[in-house]
Amino acid sequence: MKILGIETSCDETAAAVVEDGTRIVSNIVASQIDIHARYGGIVPEVASRQHLLTIIPVVNKALSEAKLAWQDIDGIAVTFGPGLAGSLLVGVNVAKAIALARRLPITGVNHLEGHIYANWLASPFPSPASGEGRVRFPCLCLIISGGHSDLVLMKGHGQFEKLGRTRDDASGEAFDKAARILGLGYPGGPAIEQAAKSGTPCFSLPRAWLGNSHDFSFSGLKTALWHLAQKEEILANPSKVADAAASFQCAVVDVLVTKTIEAAKELGVKQILLSGGVAANKLLTECFLSSSPIPVLVPPPHLCTDNAAMIAACGYYHFQAGKISSYDLDVVPSLSLG
Ligand code: KG4
Ligand code: ZN
Repeated sequence: MKILGIETSCDETAAAVVEDGTRIVSNIVASQIDIHARYGGIVPEVASRQHLLTIIPVVNKALSEAKLAWQDIDGIAVTFGPGLAGSLLVGVNVAKAIALARRLPITGVNHLEGHIYANWLASPFPSPASGEGRVRFPCLCLIISGGHSDLVLMKGHGQFEKLGRTRDDASGEAFDKAARILGLGYPGGPAIEQAAKSGTPCFSLPRAWLGNSHDFSFSGLKTALWHLAQKEEILANPSKVADAAASFQCAVVDVLVTKTIEAAKELGVKQILLSGGVAANKLLTECFLSSSPIPVLVPPPHLCTDNAAMIAACGYYHFQAGKISSYDLDVVPSLSLG
């Protein structure tokens, strides 16, 4: 079964074809980073207008790179939330128009559920370590992106129980704000990661453990970084900026890794699944892999950040479960999972 996935929840216009929920046939992502970088963050109206310009070429490219015609496609999966309303509307309306014109079934996918399904995706040449069969339930999913830091227990396809969330800034948002404090540009995650390579985590920054709760909090850490940046005159000294970036990255990774492994042990899950843009961070994955007694799965970096292959993979399992949306599918900007 070949599913066309469409993703426009934020600032990436993406379309992909995935076969049987695991095999990527094509995966096109048109990034708007250069357009938003000059504002230091995403401007919602600019994002939705850019999606309008890009969506049709991106969908056409996903089909042509897959060497497929419309009659080869069996269904359409589209992100309907959470995300920016104006951005989501573009993807959902294009998906509905195609579904209607081509008489294809359509399924609305929760962007956060989509992120998790990046763990099902195999390379074009499936190996035993990828694709269907490598995920074992129950598993604990850590979804860490620009808008979310969620810990979700997944008992089976489509069965989610939210255990924890961020109480303030999401981890990706914290990276973005920290990069702004340190004058490192946008998006902050890759900028902090790059700067941290030439620094050492020598500054002591706070970690919010929040007792036995599975929630996260990163705003105190961000404020502490801001104070540090004032006091130590860091901004005038590139090597101190690198040390501050390394110290910040270390604090975020420490909390995410420690709290997730604790929760996984407590719940007795079989695996930990990482997903979302922050999971592209190398230190984070290295720390998880070296310190977790429970097997950890993490998609390759380009499947951690927003893409439509993960939406198509998730859509396949929706269709398998008979979850088909009607043509009045609407966007839900504040949609949550579990
Ligand atoms: O999942 P994603 O692409 O979009 C959302 O759904 O939000 O995540 C984007 C977030 C941004 O905040 C970005 O700074 C962060 O992921 N990010 C990273 C890295 N790459 C992207 N954070 C830390 N390290 C990275 N390498
Ligand atoms: Zn995302």
